[in-house]
Amino acid sequence: MGNYPIPTNKALSGVRVLDMTHVQAGPTSSQLLAWLGADVVKFEAPTGDITRQQLAVTRNGKREESFYFKMLNSNKRSITVNMKSKAGQEVFEQLVKNCDVIMDNFGPGVLTRLGYPNEKLQELNKGLIIASIKGFGASGPYASYKAYEPIAQAMGGAMAVTGSMEGPPTISGAFIGDSGTGVHLALGICAALYHRTHNGGIGQEVEAAMQDSVLNLCRVKMRDHQRLLGGTAGLSEYSPPTMGLTYVPRALNDSGGGHIGSAIPCKPFGPNDYVYMVAQAPIVPVLLKEIGLAPDDERFAPAAARNKNQVEFWKYVSEYTKNYDKFEVTARFNSLDIPCGPVLSTDEITRDEHLAHREMWVKVEGHPEGDYYTVGMPVKLSLGNVDKIFPSPGLGEHNEEISKSVCGFSDADYKRLQESGAFTSPPKK
Ligand SMILES: CC(C)(COP(=O)(O)OP(=O)(O)OC[C@H]1O[C@@H](n2cnc3c(N)ncnc32)[C@H](O)[C@@H]1OP(=O)(O)O)[C@@H](O)C(=O)NCCC(=O)NCCS
Repeated sequence: MGNYPIPTNKALSGVRVLDMTHVQAGPTSSQLLAWLGADVVKFEAPTGDITRQQLAVTRNGKREESFYFKMLNSNKRSITVNMKSKAGQEVFEQLVKNCDVIMDNFGPGVLTRLGYPNEKLQELNKGLIIASIKGFGASGPYASYKAYEPIAQAMGGAMAVTGSMEGPPTISGAFIGDSGTGVHLALGICAALYHRTHNGGIGQEVEAAMQDSVLNLCRVKMRDHQRLLGGTAGLSEYSPPTMGLTYVPRALNDSGGGHIGSAIPCKPFGPNDYVYMVAQAPIVPVLLKEIGLAPDDERFAPAAARNKNQVEFWKYVSEYTKNYDKFEVTARFNSLDIPCGPVLSTDEITRDEHLAHREMWVKVEGHPEGDYYTVGMPVKLSLGNVDKIFPSPGLGEHNEEISKSVCGFSDADYKRLQESGAFTSPPKK
């Protein structure tokens, strides 16, 4: 990526992040901070973040660095440091002293085992914000467990309510445990930065646990759990029977909101030829008329009857939609103010005009292996976002630059550290 121009006039300009995160949950969080203008120093073991190699593609006979890494680490600089060497620890400590935030998503106890419990970090820099993602947080019965996305979805409530009751609990294709926790952590870091500014420059610990974050995103399912009143009340908007249940069932494509909704097939009936539509109460008469029924059809017009007869209701809607493709249905229903959208495949996402307009599927230029695409910044600040998405850094690409400009090492120091194996593993003879 060459000389990455650290933004000077963005929302988080002036904030420097020591980014020890790896895999997905942490890097997605630090990438958001980078896209808001923070100077993010990606701190890797000399072997590199494992995702540099994981799920990599081979193109024209050449193995490339993975899209996994490239899509989660843009607008960052990379330094490799062997934390298990004395010289590496010297570099690490200089970085701790010169950063505002340190982030990690190591397994339980890793930083402490490396000799850096939080108290030690705070001793080195009292203004440091120590931000960490763990599967289950620092304390409690599960604190020592490692976690990956599906485990967080299983233990945060999402799997039990996704899919159908005829099949097994199902994971969502949205990575709510990894990327979702990253978003939560970024919020905590921004709040801690604000607090530090207004409270004499003191830092604090910020922790986001994956199980907690998934549960937070399952909040409305816990709302429904309480509405069951211990098995004495039903959930009339659910299509499966709920009376007598003491847990919220899987309800396939039911909307889960105050208005019923479903995924409806359209022609030509391929795997993604569906629209999702919501029968928002005020527009139901319009919808009934459009599909050829009386606007006051007593089976479907009153909400209680519509909930009770929802399977039949969606059959009528399908009879209408089967004559059109999903884009035609979407255009027609939206023109009638009926909430409706096509199910977009990954391929259609890459060609979606609106997402391109929103800079959400973005070409990243300048990577030595060639240009690639990434998902853009989903939060837009009128004054705060970086102007451009820069490619992910090469492994250790900025070792010298960061050592000198951030840590303040001289040429001689840098040479000494290099020769002592600070940036490599094992140390060079
Ligand atoms: C994701 C996860 C399961 C991976 O587990 P893992 O591959 O065993 O990695 P860990 O984070 O536990 O350990 C990293 C090791 O690398 C070492 N390491 C990390 N950075 C290093 C560096 N710069 N120099 C030398 N060693 C380093 C650590 O010391 C540790 O070694 P240890 O086991 O001897 O203590 C685990 O990190 C985890 O549970 N993270 C929290 C939850 C999470 O974020 N999960 C989602 C990931 S998308």
